[in-house]
Amino acid sequence: MSILVTGGAGYIGSHTCVSLLKAGFDIVVLDNLCNSKGSAVKYIKEITGKDFTFYRYDLRDIESVQSVFEKETIEAVIHLAGYKAVGESVRKPLMYYENNILGTLNLLKCMRERNVKKLIFSSSATVYTGALGKAPFQALTEESPLAVTNPYGRTKLMIEEILSDLYQSDPEWNIISLRYFNPIGAHESGLLGDDPNGIPNNLMPYIVQVAAGKLEKLNVFGDDYDTKDGTGVRDYIHVTDLADGHVAALKKLKNFSGIFTVYNLGTGRGYSVLEIIKTFSKINGIEIPYVIAPRREGDVDMCFADPSKAERELGWKATRNLEDMCRDSWNFQKTVLQID
Ligand code: NAD
Ligand code: WQD
Repeated sequence: MSILVTGGAGYIGSHTCVSLLKAGFDIVVLDNLCNSKGSAVKYIKEITGKDFTFYRYDLRDIESVQSVFEKETIEAVIHLAGYKAVGESVRKPLMYYENNILGTLNLLKCMRERNVKKLIFSSSATVYTGALGKAPFQALTEESPLAVTNPYGRTKLMIEEILSDLYQSDPEWNIISLRYFNPIGAHESGLLGDDPNGIPNNLMPYIVQVAAGKLEKLNVFGDDYDTKDGTGVRDYIHVTDLADGHVAALKKLKNFSGIFTVYNLGTGRGYSVLEIIKTFSKINGIEIPYVIAPRREGDVDMCFADPSKAERELGWKATRNLEDMCRDSWNFQKTVLQID
């Protein structure tokens, strides 16, 4: 029996594959490599010393997804495949709805056909951010109000609603939606990490490219937020901790007999942009030139998790600190530079 990992060659998926293999699970990976490289699959095998089948298939093509379920004995699915860039989703909403929603519907249909009813879905803290700012900020629990402000976020919330409807219609399904906060960091080997194409949208990939001399300076988006130093505060979580959260969720899923539930995966701590720059510089010995720039549209002051439900029910807790995250992010970038 295998765990099917969609999007398993991607940033979070590749780390999740490593955690699953290390925990003794057999896996099958499906990814169309639209935002990742085949070399990630090679590195997952190298790091773990284990083999698995990789299908370079697209979830939008239901026949190829069906063929995976025909060839393999799938016990549960971890579904990470999808597009994830907020700004791009505003410019290309149909592309996002097609990939994220249609891709998920195809997967769910194939699962139902084969009676595979265990699923872990990659959701996001973005499902909360549209509701923030109306009341004083409190750490986000799974019961916090939900609201989204862009097509990407809407795909995540819609998929959670689809999954909830599916469970209502057939309580034999066991579904966990994991709401990730801000994953950064990389595998300690330096072989797996976040390597976006073009100019990065997210903070840590941008910082590492400034450190590498590929970009001149960081634009800090706003210093007049209602936070400790005026810059935005987020809950950064090491991608390996996040990956381990999937293993904890999978173990829990095996014991359920019918459930749809959600967990926040974050550390419960918020760091500001300036704190990230400072820690990165200190741990890696590299100055990061930056300028204060206008606020970025759609950003909120603060966003961090109350991760206690995951600790209580999954026995999972993030263990790596911000220094680990900054060191590993840079270590990965250095490896990429050597390979490129
Ligand atoms: P990523 O782009 O590195 O990984 C996604 C993978 O899915 C890629 O390898 C891509 O090639 C693949 N993919 C996309 N569409 C596909 C399709 N139609 N068929 C097959 N493969 C397809 O992104 P990531 O950061 O690893 O994110 C993984 C998941 O986690 C996504 O669903 C994302 O929305 C979610 N998420 C990410 C973050 C974050 O900050 N990185 C935060 C919250 C949630
Ligand atoms: C973090 C902080 C910026 C870049 C995004 C998605 C969210 C989720 C995680 C998928 C903010 C500041 C950033 C820069 C900066 N992804 N910043 N200069 O916006 O919290 O979350 O990724 O689900 O949905 O929205 O992450 O890394 O973009 O920004 O000052 O060049 O860094 O303003 O305060 P964000 P981020």
